[in-house]
Amino acid sequence: MRTATKIAAVVLVGVAVSVGGYLVLMPNDPPPRRADPANLNQVTAGADIYGEHCASCHGLTLAGEADWRRPRSDGSFPAPPHDESGHTWHHPDAQLFEITKLGGKPYNPRSTMPAFSGALSDEEIWSVLAYIKSRWPDSVRERQRAVTAASEER
Ligand code: HEC
Repeated sequence: MRTATKIAAVVLVGVAVSVGGYLVLMPNDPPPRRADPANLNQVTAGADIYGEHCASCHGLTLAGEADWRRPRSDGSFPAPPHDESGHTWHHPDAQLFEITKLGGKPYNPRSTMPAFSGALSDEEIWSVLAYIKSRWPDSVRERQRAVTAASEER
């Protein structure tokens, strides 16, 4: 399909499904398998998921728990920030996805980071990661993008 035709088709679908002022999203493509901070739908969905499932530990403003670098008496760590002051952005996308899906135990048996494989679909996990990335300054987002690209080349 030519690009112009494709755009026209997408617009038509969009118009056809906006009923009574509600734009019902009907994706033509399969759900994204990646966290794209420029994808507004993904980021908006991710913000809700973050508020419901992550904010209680990682903080509503992504600031993490107080004194997050200091281990607790049982050897576990408090929840780190997801903003640029933490180290979430040091990790490639695939690893962030895996930690969220499988929890922190595979990395550290004392970890209290829960596994979300039962609570969230893969698509929802990618959305929440897109939201987290959308909160980083451009420079940090660019560095994490490079970390992800390098890990995918290997
Ligand atoms: C019950 C508290 C709790 C909840 C809820 C929680 N986390 Fe965590 N999370 C932690 C802790 C504690 C760590 C520190 C890692 C460790 O102890 O292994 C962590 C670490 C992480 C890391 C690794 C960060 C890094 O820099 O290494 C990611 C990614 C993460 N969490 C994502 C999420 C996401 C996304 C959600 C919501 C879907 C979430 N977490 C909900 C407690 C929580």
